[in-house]
Amino acid sequence: MGFLAHDAALLIVVLILVLRCAGGGAAAVQASGNVTIPSTATLAHCPKMCGDIIFDYPFGIGTGCFRDPDFEVICNHSTQPPRLFLNDGDTELVDGISFSLPANSPGLAVAFSRSIPMISDVDVYNVSWTAPGRSFVASQIQLNFTGCDFDIYWLRDIDSRALVCAVTCPSEGITETIARQSCDGIGCCSSTFPTGGISSLKFQFVRRNSKVEGQARTEGKTNRSSLWDRISVETDFMLLSWGVVLDQQPDCAAAAKNKTSYACVSEHSTCTYELNGIYPSYMCKCRDGYNGNPHVLGGCLPGYNPNPQKVNCSRSCGSISVPFPFGLEEGCSAREEFLLNCTDAVNSTLMYGWDQYVSEINVGKGIMAISSDAFPVFGTLYAQSTATQDLHWAVANQSCQQAQQDISAYACVSANSTCLGVNSTEKFVSNTYVGYRCKCVDGFDGNPYILNGCQDIDECETTPGICGGPCHNTVGGYYCTKCPGKTQYYDTTKKQCTQAKRQPSLLFGIVIGFGAGFGILLLGLSTLLFANRWRGEVEKKQRRKYFLENQGLLLEQLISSDENASDKTKIFSLQELEKATNNFDNTRILGRGGHGMVYKGILSDQRVVAIKKSMIIKQSEINEFINEVAILSQINHRNIVKLFGCCLETKVPLLVYDFVPNGSLYQILHSATSSGFLLSWDDCLRIATEAAGALSYLHSSASVSVFHRDVKSSNILLDANYTAKVSDFGASRLVSIDQTHVSTLVQGTLGYLDPEYYHTGQLNEKSDVYSFGVVLLELLLRREPIFTSESGSKHNLSSYFLWEFKTRPIKEIAATQVREEASEEEIKSVASLAEMCLRLRGEERPTMKEVEMALQTMRAKRFKSYQAAHENGKEMHGLIRLRAKDSSDHSFAQVGYSVDQPSQRWCSLEQEFISSGEVPR
Ligand SMILES: *[C@@H]1O[C@H](CO)[C@@H](O)[C@H](O)[C@H]1NC(C)=O
Ligand SMILES: *[C@@H]1O[C@H](CO)[C@@H](O)[C@H](O)[C@H]1NC(C)=O
Ligand SMILES: *[C@@H]1O[C@H](CO)[C@@H](O)[C@H](O)[C@H]1NC(C)=O
Ligand SMILES: *[C@@H]1O[C@H](CO)[C@@H](O)[C@H](O)[C@H]1NC(C)=O
Ligand SMILES: *[C@@H]1O[C@H](CO)[C@@H](O)[C@H](O)[C@H]1NC(C)=O
Ligand SMILES: *[C@@H]1O[C@H](CO)[C@@H](O)[C@H](O)[C@H]1NC(C)=O
Ligand SMILES: *[C@@H]1O[C@H](CO)[C@@H](O)[C@H](O)[C@H]1NC(C)=O
Repeated sequence: MGFLAHDAALLIVVLILVLRCAGGGAAAVQASGNVTIPSTATLAHCPKMCGDIIFDYPFGIGTGCFRDPDFEVICNHSTQPPRLFLNDGDTELVDGISFSLPANSPGLAVAFSRSIPMISDVDVYNVSWTAPGRSFVASQIQLNFTGCDFDIYWLRDIDSRALVCAVTCPSEGITETIARQSCDGIGCCSSTFPTGGISSLKFQFVRRNSKVEGQARTEGKTNRSSLWDRISVETDFMLLSWGVVLDQQPDCAAAAKNKTSYACVSEHSTCTYELNGIYPSYMCKCRDGYNGNPHVLGGCLPGYNPNPQKVNCSRSCGSISVPFPFGLEEGCSAREEFLLNCTDAVNSTLMYGWDQYVSEINVGKGIMAISSDAFPVFGTLYAQSTATQDLHWAVANQSCQQAQQDISAYACVSANSTCLGVNSTEKFVSNTYVGYRCKCVDGFDGNPYILNGCQDIDECETTPGICGGPCHNTVGGYYCTKCPGKTQYYDTTKKQCTQAKRQPSLLFGIVIGFGAGFGILLLGLSTLLFANRWRGEVEKKQRRKYFLENQGLLLEQLISSDENASDKTKIFSLQELEKATNNFDNTRILGRGGHGMVYKGILSDQRVVAIKKSMIIKQSEINEFINEVAILSQINHRNIVKLFGCCLETKVPLLVYDFVPNGSLYQILHSATSSGFLLSWDDCLRIATEAAGALSYLHSSASVSVFHRDVKSSNILLDANYTAKVSDFGASRLVSIDQTHVSTLVQGTLGYLDPEYYHTGQLNEKSDVYSFGVVLLELLLRREPIFTSESGSKHNLSSYFLWEFKTRPIKEIAATQVREEASEEEIKSVASLAEMCLRLRGEERPTMKEVEMALQTMRAKRFKSYQAAHENGKEMHGLIRLRAKDSSDHSFAQVGYSVDQPSQRWCSLEQEFISSGEVPR
């Protein structure tokens, strides 16, 4: 009996094994020779959730539910809620796997943890993690290490070991959990690992103090926390990229030939070759214009659905109309990206995403007007226009030709509509193709996205007098005729030809003519006079109204109550500024800042100014704006663009700044068309120091802190002497000095945006520090914050740098010109300063003051070494060329001369900060 049971058990085990192997490849050839292609039907029995974490094929649980053993996942029900692991049972999936959004998700968010008990006499502990299969590589990794008195090394290769961080012992009673909250080196330390394909991680914990001390430590007290007894590693953040490993096949084309193993089975799917890690692999994606799961038959569905699933959809938000393809509810829009949120119908508040206010949608022109002043971070369907805040949108990232091939997903459904390409007009990516949209053909008007949306225009009605005679509308056009008979004329009011009255006698005619003519002339003149006056009156009233609305009185008060400010800041009249800009002539446009249009103007006293017309400001923001003007008018810092005043007589207040002639740092660094002026390394250091000084002043010196919020190289302007002037405070926020952070809508510019701020929405001074770190990189690497590498792929400068910085000598990364001019030590210092500014956690970044000090110290050292090398001073002249006229306390010469320190190797930046603190100023 027992024997039989044993046999049965064995049989079951074998069966399970066989089933598992067969199930391992759902696409594999089955015994019969039949091929099972994964489809909704074959996957119907497969679980799709574990707790509240979702997953989808090729990942799966159970026979036939996953592609190959790499993709088998494990749901552990022993915890509440259940936890989902990859096939190693060790790497946990912390976010689900979803294909419902356009496939741009960089990978799977995962975590692992290790905990090792300490053994007395053992001073070295090894910890490792290995990717759960060839299909995976880790990309962005941040880990927390806990323990007591250890150095932690990353064993990169067999023979290369890098110190990651070190932990000291905390005071007693500090538990592991508490230490982990701050993770600042006491009981816990934290480190980021470079982006790139990592398929295993090995660490070594090495005890720092001698064995004797170690033993003394283990003896002593007993009420210590677990920190003294074990070391551990916890994942704070980690991304796993995955792909389908190519078996022997060289590329996608070869892989596609084997129908039984090819993974991209859905129609409208494509395959892209990847070389993430050690194993060449490919990724399946739904083609442009399609969304869904490319690994399942019929998985890729058109991203655009021309038939709204719901009827009776609401089509307006207060006074804003929301025409199809946009919608306010699920099922009312043609695609997910066109779903808007009417958060307040009474006040017509229409939102896209969580921080963009939409003020108008125009289907005819393909425009969506945005009224917030945030830098819009939109998906691939939108392109920002250079001249306005409007967004041009496309319905799908396809060409017209591609779109017309699949008529079920083609957006231009109305008769008499046509397809049209949308190009981006953004300054730096202009004329890149975005996608297609629809429009009614000439002679028709309406909504091309709905059946019969394009209706004939009755030109005779809409443009009376278009013919100057009888007009006849046709579908899609019109034609003109003449009145029959010479004596008839066309009466536009009656819309018919009428017999002309009999001609009166000549003399009578002349008399009447003269009289009437004179009368009309008189009447006309007086009307004109009156109208002019009346218009003037109306305009005056309008201006007064805006002035009051814009709280001119309040501002007048604010400014006059401050004696210092009154002679500097002025309230300009609109007339004055119109004169200065030749009525805001288009030729006077200097550029478009993130928050408005900037004009060049010449005031009556010959001062050259830049006048900024801001984007629409909500009434609720006017008060803040006034405050800001009041504060900025009091700021007098040589490296901050001077605000001369403002004009409140327009709907949106105008700001009048000092004109800074030499453009922005961005233009000089990145624009090939700039005057050919190349910044020397000395200039770079000086400009960085000046900008850092200005930001540090804003953060701390004024009575309230000002956070700039949009620090970038295009907001650092250069005057005639190439002195830096920080500008564009459109996004700035004032924060009273006891407030350390404020919650705001996230604003800023892609490539410069502080990730912590982006995730939490909590603004603090360190967000500016992060952005400044990116500016330092631009100076060091001479690359744009988002740049296209030689291989054609787009990179984020900061992550590119952080990765390269950890893996390569910095000299190889810096720009050629910088390598030639700067010493290795300088390059290293700037790089580590930038690295500190770019720390993920704000609190780990230096303050702007510290950054300024570090930069000043570098300049002082540079100056000293010049001085030493060229005692007779010839070269030195060149060095301080640009600073000659300068007499402020920031000047190079003064700092340079007053430093009196033995030259020494810099060990750490902290030391640098300390030493720079000694520089008398
Ligand atoms: C393939 O499978 C189908 C049903 O799934 C079956 O009817 C057919 O006979 C099979 N073909 C072979 C060659 O086994
Ligand atoms: C890691 O450390 C940071 C502080 O540096 C802390 O906020 C985070 O919660 C820690 N994460 C884990 C998983 O312990
Ligand atoms: C196709 O792929 C399967 C599974 O990887 C393999 O067994 C088979 O030999 C391949 N067929 C060809 C023609 O290469
Ligand atoms: C719309 O916005 C409101 C308030 O911000 C939010 O509660 C709601 O979830 C949003 N609705 C959708 C569909 O995003
Ligand atoms: C929205 O409208 C209500 C009146 O319906 C008003 O009380 C409220 O202040 C408005 N909210 C905003 C943010 O303008
Ligand atoms: C408008 O559409 C109708 C119906 O499809 C068609 O007969 C007509 O030719 C179209 N007119 C133009 C100008 O395209
Ligand atoms: C749009 O951009 C493409 C290049 O991507 C260019 O060939 C085409 O002429 C542009 N179209 C317009 C209208 O500018």
